[in-house]
Amino acid sequence: MQQHDCSPLNDYIEYSESEMLARSEKFYQDIKRRHSIRSFSNRTVDKTIIENCLKAAGTAPSGANHQPWHFVAVSSPEIKKQIREQAEHHERGFYDGRAGEEWLEALKELGTDANKPYLEHAPWLIAIFSQKKGGINEADKNTNYYVHESVGIATGFLINALHNAGSRLP
Ligand SMILES: Cc1cc2nc3c(=O)[nH]c(=O)nc-3n(C[C@H](O)[C@H](O)[C@H](O)COP(=O)(O)O)c2cc1C
Repeated sequence: MQQHDCSPLNDYIEYSESEMLARSEKFYQDIKRRHSIRSFSNRTVDKTIIENCLKAAGTAPSGANHQPWHFVAVSSPEIKKQIREQAEHHERGFYDGRAGEEWLEALKELGTDANKPYLEHAPWLIAIFSQKKGGINEADKNTNYYVHESVGIATGFLINALHNAGSRLP
């Protein structure tokens, strides 16, 4: 089956230049409010919101359209606890030697360390996996291309989608 046809895309939209200016400004004003957060409330977030953001991530471009990513959304307190324990174990190795002095120096002003309590506080954790082998169909075992780039772009889409969804009012 052909994957793509060449007819004009039916979701293509054209704008006036003034609309484009307004849209680009509005997007910039919103995206510049995105920040890396290392402290989360435990307010619940509806699963459908997370699913919509994952669907948005899945629209990202990828090498040969193989979509070499796998997103796992976790809300179970037990699994979040296990992830926190494993992450903190891994991070202790990083901060206690693996990182090296130069990297630790670069991280100093961020004030990060091996403690990750937010991995249990946040209502959802999203684990992102890269797939070196796969293809367009789930059972495929073909080589995937530009895996890191593709997964990085999809992760960027996900961050953008989550930021756009916003935070829940108390
Ligand atoms: C590839 C990558 C790896 C990162 N690793 C970490 C990390 O291990 N721990 C952390 O707290 N932040 C991490 N960050 C977040 C950066 O520290 C953050 O993006 C940067 O300080 C700029 O701040 P901002 O995201 O609020 O603009 C990472 C960001 C990227 C893109």
